[in-house]
Amino acid sequence: MAEVRVRLLRGWRDLEACVRIQREVWGHADLDITPVHNLCVSIETGAILLGAFVGREMAGYVYSFPAVRDGVCCQHSHHLAVLPAYRGRKLGKTLKRAQWIEALRRGTKLITWTYDPMQARNANLNLHALGALGRVYLDDFYGRTPALMLDAGVPTDRLLLEWRIATPRVRARMAGDRLAPDPARIVRAVEMKPGGEYPAIVPGRPDLGRTEPRLLIELPRNIRDLKGTPGLIGRWQKAVRTAFKHYFAAGYRLDDFIAGERSFYVLKKSASRG
Ligand SMILES: CC(C)(COP(=O)(O)OP(=O)(O)OC[C@H]1O[C@@H](n2cnc3c(N)ncnc32)[C@H](O)[C@@H]1OP(=O)(O)O)[C@@H](O)C(=O)NCCC(=O)NCCS
Repeated sequence: MAEVRVRLLRGWRDLEACVRIQREVWGHADLDITPVHNLCVSIETGAILLGAFVGREMAGYVYSFPAVRDGVCCQHSHHLAVLPAYRGRKLGKTLKRAQWIEALRRGTKLITWTYDPMQARNANLNLHALGALGRVYLDDFYGRTPALMLDAGVPTDRLLLEWRIATPRVRARMAGDRLAPDPARIVRAVEMKPGGEYPAIVPGRPDLGRTEPRLLIELPRNIRDLKGTPGLIGRWQKAVRTAFKHYFAAGYRLDDFIAGERSFYVLKKSASRG
């Protein structure tokens, strides 16, 4: 692959390329697109918009805009997209790294974003590779927007992540320092159970009585494999949602993700709820 260059985007030609990528990556209809004029005005008012170029083609971009969280100025990252032909070649991570550097340069210490908690690959990127943390679960956040649903009628639940970009934790992850915990040594609050109509991919009933310092919530390795079975996706979503909401309220935070033969979120009891 040709060399990858990342730069700040400007001018309507760059912004039109972002619109093309939104159509290709998310299949957005006109109504769901973040349009050129919106991207344009948000750059002028403090947004960070970066594109990754392979040769002359923009292969992906990352977009965040100024926001406030708990009274603190931050950036909220709304889009990260890489064209399918360029995936799995570190462009997503390269874009997040460029966003991290640019945000630090501007004096920002926090970047937030939301993502679909059923997507194991994104969870691995967000929590394990980047070191973001979570403690807020948003039920059916975007409402019934078809382009944002996992399958017909499945609520658009999201986790809100906090990426505390100046902390030693994040600096270490960005330097590649990340040891995955051993899932065999941690208690499971949600795990796959065998049998039933769809053997081995059905979630068990969430165990809400645990008090250990760390807990696991299992996810199917690839939720897209369950597409066409919205009832089963809905069951998984409900189990994961129930466990997250219960344990967040009990003072746990989302701390890491383990991707392997089986995939797990890692919850950790927080010393403080702040
Ligand atoms: C998410 C997305 C931007 C990733 O782009 P990408 O260029 O393929 O990602 P990278 O090659 O940089 O991989 C980044 C990380 O993702 C995770 N990842 C990638 N492929 C994975 C896989 N098959 N299984 C588990 N994790 C995977 C890993 O953590 C990886 O980092 P690592 O290889 O150092 O462990 C891209 O898949 C995309 O555009 N998806 C659709 C839009 C979307 O979901 N955006 C929201 C992202 S929160």
